[in-house]
Amino acid sequence: MKIIGTGSAVPSKSVSNDMLTGFLNTSDEWISSRTGIRTRRILTNEKLEDLALEATRAALESAKISPDDVDFFICSNVSNNYVTPSLSAIVQEAVGSHAPCIDLNGACAGFIYSLDFADAYLQTDRAKNILILCAEEPTRFCDWHQRETSVLFGDGAGAVVVTKGDGLQSLHLTASPDKDVIYYKRRLENTPYEHRGVDVDEPLVMQGREVFRMAVESSQKDLDIVMTKAGVTSEQVDYFLLHQANMRIIKAIREQIKQPEEKFPTNIERYGNTSSASIPILLDELSREGKLHQDAILALSAFGAGFVTGAAVMKWNTINY
Ligand code: ACO
Repeated sequence: MKIIGTGSAVPSKSVSNDMLTGFLNTSDEWISSRTGIRTRRILTNEKLEDLALEATRAALESAKISPDDVDFFICSNVSNNYVTPSLSAIVQEAVGSHAPCIDLNGACAGFIYSLDFADAYLQTDRAKNILILCAEEPTRFCDWHQRETSVLFGDGAGAVVVTKGDGLQSLHLTASPDKDVIYYKRRLENTPYEHRGVDVDEPLVMQGREVFRMAVESSQKDLDIVMTKAGVTSEQVDYFLLHQANMRIIKAIREQIKQPEEKFPTNIERYGNTSSASIPILLDELSREGKLHQDAILALSAFGAGFVTGAAVMKWNTINY
């Protein structure tokens, strides 16, 4: 499997740390020193579907294929306005494709999970081109009175088009069930048989320190496994593209891998944590900036609620935008 197109989109509204101090007991100093985040993009006038469509169109355009050429459409999403139909079905109608489509919730690791599904599908020759879209609005599942969670997130979408090829060198997924470490619960309707009068939405609950520890530990292990499987050393990896959850998490992983900071590109300072969209947005930015040379070795690693994790090693194929 190889990536032949990329696209991304973020909301127009940029919110700085200072802007949050108007209604939260927080400070730019606390947020930037504990997380690395300086600004985040938040959906206001646009909808998540608009970002998703923009990222999808950009990915198709760079892959030089039309919506009709897409054989399967996977959308990684944790939450959006519609419970049903799927976000992939909504975006697919807007983009004018008729490919089978499905949403996948692999939390912040959704991009790596989607790559694995796409790779398996391509190997059975049931599809030639697969579109993977990661579209997320985590700012909508935080309680904006809670400084512990709301300062961390931003909205965004990233997309790639994949086809058969020699790009993917190795991929590894894990799940170590621990649903209480991060969760967001939605209210369900009452039935005539059970009135859940007190069953209300419960905005994001997170044990920050525990997530931090699990993220660093799992990412280091996963990267070790995929680099060994691919037969590459950390010195040979050109870029480590890590889920953008916290700059200190990225720094801790970097220190364990003992590779220079330039190999760990980031966008968390500008966008906050965009959940599963963080790696494809980063990939699109690097690729469009011409930073990914032909055959560059990329090591990807993501982790999220579940607790689920995934990592992959890919050889890059240059895309002409
Ligand atoms: N502004 C000011 N003070 C704050 C804020 C804030 N936004 N948030 C928490 N504090 C306070 C706390 O109330 C606490 O005060 P106290 O000492 O008086 O009790 C103090 O800061 C320290 O709080 P901690 O939670 O211990 O701070 P920590 O250094 O662990 O940082 C953080 C918290 C940033 C959440 C960190 O644990 C973290 O990044 N964890 C990873 C979480 C993560 O990445 N989640 C993303 C979602 S899941 C995913 O993407 C995988």
